[in-house]
Amino acid sequence: VTRALPATTVEEAAVLLREGKLVAFPTETVYGLGADAWNGKAVAAIFAAKGRPHFNPLICHYPDAEAAFAEVLADDRARRLAARFWPGPLTLVLPRRPECRVDLLAGAGLDTQAVRVPAHPLALALLRAVGRPVAAPSANRSGQVSPTTAAHVLEGLGGRIEAVVDGGPCEVGVESTVLDLASPGGAVLLRPGGVTAEAIEAEIGPLGHALAPESAAATATLRSPGLMLSHYAPSLPVRLGAWSVEPGEALLAFGNPLPGAGAVWNLSEAGDTTEAAARLFAGLRWLDTEGWRLGLSRIAAMPVPEAGLGAAINDRLRRAAAPRD
Ligand code: TXA
Ligand code: MG
Repeated sequence: VTRALPATTVEEAAVLLREGKLVAFPTETVYGLGADAWNGKAVAAIFAAKGRPHFNPLICHYPDAEAAFAEVLADDRARRLAARFWPGPLTLVLPRRPECRVDLLAGAGLDTQAVRVPAHPLALALLRAVGRPVAAPSANRSGQVSPTTAAHVLEGLGGRIEAVVDGGPCEVGVESTVLDLASPGGAVLLRPGGVTAEAIEAEIGPLGHALAPESAAATATLRSPGLMLSHYAPSLPVRLGAWSVEPGEALLAFGNPLPGAGAVWNLSEAGDTTEAAARLFAGLRWLDTEGWRLGLSRIAAMPVPEAGLGAAINDRLRRAAAPRD
């Protein structure tokens, strides 16, 4: 069985991680499924618990930029971004240093490693107590909706992991922005997330954007293998850009809800994308459960503007609605 540890037992969680066990913990974005990044067996266990394909690399979490940059090569851009946004929801993909001790499986055999310093006080306390980098993907089964509460983690991974540290709901609600700084062609946005592209561009200038894959098959050749087309998916199909509700639909609303839906989850009545991001994954989970209970056949999502965290929300919704294989 998986134990839900109260927030005060970060010390116990650190001991479990040092023993090579899997422990989920809160970050400001979503809950992560942590393992000692230097321990190959522990890292392999993450892939097994999630059912995650081995070509999809993991982010390593550090208590500060100094610890992160001891394992990857930081250039001026990386240092500026770290000073501005860490701790916070930004992940940097950088070349591994020769002395990097992160297990190669965590980086899926690439010569780069994704690193981040999370802003959650419990995550930082845990990382300091472990004294090693913690590799952590989102704490959900591969392809499913990311968890923003300890209960979500247990729904998907209960019985498959040692423990979850319960720190309440995550504040940001969508994952970190993933930025590739290792490509010769310049910085590339691999995944929109908690730090907006505009905020990053204000620090280091214009970004390139990773092309959205046209098909699931194209996924295998992607620069960031995790940018898979179908992802973050509830079990009910999702219809995007809804201007009216069709029979049998549950509604993911934004602003004034459309009439006629059997079940409604409003991301933000006030039309605020920051609030909407924090409520997105809980909403998809709730509509999925309610939809099945009421015999509904689809989730219709109202349009969300691209401003602010809207870009990250729309990215996740497109993947939730993508064809599945
Ligand atoms: O907010 C977050 O980033 C959360 C919390 C737990 O920190 N973590 C998270 O991890 O979302 P995950 O594994 O669900 O997503 C990591 C993303 C994937 O799309 C993966 O392909 C990409 O980062 N990634 C990791 N390492 C990479 C690398 N070396 N090169 C390119 N992309 C990489
Ligand atoms: Mg994930």
